[in-house]
Amino acid sequence: MEIFHCLYLIFVFSSMFIPLVFANDPYSQALVGLKSHVIDDFNSLDDWFVPSGENPPGKIYACSWSGVKCNKNNSIVVGLNLSTKGLAGELPGKYFRVFNELLDLNLSQNSFSGQFPVEIFNLSNLRSLDISRNNFSGHFPGGLHSLQNLVVLDAFSNSFSGPLPVEASQLQNLEVLNLAGSYFSGPIPFQYGSFKSLEFIHLAGNFLNGKIPPELGNLKTVTHMEIGYNSYQGSIPWQLGNMSEIQYLDIAGANLSGSIPKQLSNLTKLESLFLFKNHLTGKIPWEFSNMKALSSLDLSDNQLSGPIPESFVELKNLSLLSLMYNQMSGTVPEGLAQLPALEILFIWNNFFSGSLPENLGRNSKLRWVDVSTNNFVGSIPPDICSGGVLFKLILFSNNFTGSLSPSISNCSSLVRLRLEDNSFSGEIPLKFSHFPDISYIDLSRNKFTGGFPTDISQASKLEYFNVSNNPELGGMITPKTWSLPQLQNVSASACNITGTLPPFKSCKALTVIELKMNKLSGTIPGSISNCQALERIDLANNKLTGAIPEGLANIPDLGVLDLSHNNFSGPIPRNFGNCSSLVLLNVSFNDISGSIPSGKALKLMGSNAYVGNPRLCGAPLQSCAASIFGSKGSGKLTLVLLLCIGVVMFIAAALFGVFWFRRGSKGQWKMVSFLGLPRFKATDVLKSFNSTGAEEAMQPPQSGSICKVVLPTGITVSVKTIKWGAKGMKVMEEFIMRLGNARHKNLIRLLGFCHNNHQAYLLYDYLPNGNLSEKIRLKKDWSTKYRIVMGIARGLCFLHHDCYPAIPHGDLKSSNIVFDENMEPHLAEFGFKHLTELANGSIPATVSRRESGEFNNAIKEELYMDIYGFGEIILEILSNGRLTNAGTSIQSKPRDGLLREICSENEVGLSSSLQEDIKLILDVALLCTRTTPCDRPSMDDALKFLLRLSPPSKTAEL
Ligand SMILES: *[C@@H]1O[C@H](CO)[C@@H](O)[C@H](O)[C@H]1NC(C)=O
Ligand SMILES: *[C@@H]1O[C@H](CO)[C@@H](O)[C@H](O)[C@H]1NC(C)=O
Ligand SMILES: *[C@@H]1O[C@H](CO)[C@@H](O)[C@H](O)[C@H]1NC(C)=O
Ligand SMILES: *[C@@H]1O[C@H](CO)[C@@H](O)[C@H](O)[C@H]1NC(C)=O
Repeated sequence: MEIFHCLYLIFVFSSMFIPLVFANDPYSQALVGLKSHVIDDFNSLDDWFVPSGENPPGKIYACSWSGVKCNKNNSIVVGLNLSTKGLAGELPGKYFRVFNELLDLNLSQNSFSGQFPVEIFNLSNLRSLDISRNNFSGHFPGGLHSLQNLVVLDAFSNSFSGPLPVEASQLQNLEVLNLAGSYFSGPIPFQYGSFKSLEFIHLAGNFLNGKIPPELGNLKTVTHMEIGYNSYQGSIPWQLGNMSEIQYLDIAGANLSGSIPKQLSNLTKLESLFLFKNHLTGKIPWEFSNMKALSSLDLSDNQLSGPIPESFVELKNLSLLSLMYNQMSGTVPEGLAQLPALEILFIWNNFFSGSLPENLGRNSKLRWVDVSTNNFVGSIPPDICSGGVLFKLILFSNNFTGSLSPSISNCSSLVRLRLEDNSFSGEIPLKFSHFPDISYIDLSRNKFTGGFPTDISQASKLEYFNVSNNPELGGMITPKTWSLPQLQNVSASACNITGTLPPFKSCKALTVIELKMNKLSGTIPGSISNCQALERIDLANNKLTGAIPEGLANIPDLGVLDLSHNNFSGPIPRNFGNCSSLVLLNVSFNDISGSIPSGKALKLMGSNAYVGNPRLCGAPLQSCAASIFGSKGSGKLTLVLLLCIGVVMFIAAALFGVFWFRRGSKGQWKMVSFLGLPRFKATDVLKSFNSTGAEEAMQPPQSGSICKVVLPTGITVSVKTIKWGAKGMKVMEEFIMRLGNARHKNLIRLLGFCHNNHQAYLLYDYLPNGNLSEKIRLKKDWSTKYRIVMGIARGLCFLHHDCYPAIPHGDLKSSNIVFDENMEPHLAEFGFKHLTELANGSIPATVSRRESGEFNNAIKEELYMDIYGFGEIILEILSNGRLTNAGTSIQSKPRDGLLREICSENEVGLSSSLQEDIKLILDVALLCTRTTPCDRPSMDDALKFLLRLSPPSKTAEL
């Protein structure tokens, strides 16, 4: 009571007092008013107060306040800088009325929202107005033309909508105009061609459309123009060739078509030209060689054809040349090798042929060369690395020949080397001790000989090593291979490798061992259980012996274990029955004995996983009792049994016949079940729709829909139907096969499919625990959320990076994330969108020749969309469902505010160590949902970011 009384008195007192204090000081009064109306969570404006009692006349208190700048004798306020103060809320315009003499107003990097206050346009002395990185929305208000002294107008990254302010063009002194990163729509006003002093214009990343006005060509003072990431109609106006001062021109990602006007070559001061990600056609103008200042030229991701002009030899300043993803052809001109400044050469995914220029690398310090997926032949230019800074060399999917020596055997600057899918031969001459930074080496699908490299263990940063499918390589796995501290992937399948598997000591990072189809002998060292990160072990088709190490079953994320076609003996260790991570086990064709451990996981593998082991028994093979019985049982009983079986089979055949007859007219049904899984028959599936009990007759699901079905074998599956025509059937079958071979513990398993000429039923594992969308609002603790996010990331990463070619999910959303009995998330419906598209007849884009390359255009876009979807799902999980489809709106929100909201939603205090984790996950979500697809990280990188999190120790249920 006392306190309230006291507060009341203070209130009454101060409300009488303030007007007195402010009598001669309207500036301070206005600022105090402003302060009281904005949200200042960080107390950035703490020093904005008038000490009581003092009132020296003519003094502006505010002159000493943070962010306030006055003239020399402190009689007027000339600048207000509130940048990066964590302020939020609507900005009340009325308090700005008194600042008539204001020259500079900076409100950037806060969270101001709502309408931009039109009163600010009355501050006619303003020279600079910076409101960038806020969340102002609505139309850009009228009245801008009053700011006749304005030199800088920066409104970058807000949420303005409606048309661009035409009035801006009346600002005769304007030098900087930045209206990028909002939702402005409609065309660029042709009046924007009439600025007289403009030097910098940035309108990128809006929803602008219409034709680019040719009048922009009149901007003879502009040095920097960015208008890309909009969706214009038509082509690049040739008049832009008149912008004689321009140094930087970026119209990337802008839906432009037509050819590149040769008039652009008159821009002799141009240093950077970015026209990537459009639909430009035709050839690169020969005249481009006039742009002597050009240092960065990126025309990638268009439909350009023809060769690289020979005249490019004159571009002596060119350091970046990116022409990837076009339809260019011909040989690469020898002249490119003479460019003294060339550092980055990206020409992948074209139809270039011939050999690379013999002298490439001799005259410049090349840093990054990617010529993959072309038709190149010949050998690697000998000097390609002689500049000493080449760190990525990507040559895969060409027909290069010859040996790597000497061009790259000493190239110690390399970090990434991809030579797969060529015809390289000779020894692998890399001196691994000389490659201190190398992390990724792919030499697979070549003709290397001379043995598995013996000094690989010296490359201390190596993460990925693949030499698979070099059939004459030979040699043995070097003893210390596994102990490389960062090594994750070792693939050397089909390499004629002999010897034994060396013991595993430290192998902390190792996730994949692929050594199938070699001549390995000896046992699997028990020490393999040290490698707790293993996810995939493929040792099929070797001559390995001994027992299956028990420790394998305790590796937490082991999903694939293929030991088939070896000479393993002894039992399958009991504990495999409890191994829930395993999605594919194959021990077929060995000498395994005993009974198959019980456990749903092992049964689901189907008999294929176990056949070829005469002494192995138990479900899904014949029961152990039967096998003992069979071997010494009495003849009479056997006969009776056989008779019974005969009768049963006869009845089954009869039923089957009737059934067949009924179904016959729609074409033959065919069943394909995937490796390691139960062999369903088409009839099993069809019968389960037609179960005889009239009421509960299950209808086959409608096309696209999904239903739960119990097969006669007792297994419950989800069935998805897809209608197809005989025409696209083959392509679709192939694609379904790819889906079926995509096995990962965070993907729902496609068990098989059965089809006739009209439709197909896809059978998936039935997961009983519902989907993420249903559970999004349930309270979850942090470790559960972490597990779900990581699971989704791993599944998606597998589709994007471990499937070849990559499989885009296509429809990533929370209702397509389903949970198994351990509440582990699985991605459902992956690839189904593509399948539906195929069924509707749109085949060409995704199955063209380019599918062989890693970066098919259409697929790439889909991958980016997946990544976007992933970002949105993270937001949804973090906010307990409050932020759905929030990817775009979130980008313009200030991050600090967002972080605070999410921390409070997760009941995490600002001081908690979890806040760092939330921040990191939120960062990943923000990266993934960036507006510009190619700014988003790859799933690989996203997962790497996430792996920096410390996994929460506590586990919990949903
Ligand atoms: C302060 O300086 C301005 C000129 O800069 C002058 O016009 C004004 O009279 C001065 N005011 C005082 C209180 O000295
Ligand atoms: C380039 O400019 C010159 C005049 O400076 C003009 O004669 C020529 O036609 C222009 N070339 C192109 C391709 O527009
Ligand atoms: C690659 O080149 C070799 C010899 O130069 C040739 O025999 C082979 O057919 C070529 N392969 C392809 C796929 O073009
Ligand atoms: C595999 O290696 C053996 C020697 O270990 C050799 O005799 C054989 O020719 C090699 N096979 C191939 C296909 O190179």
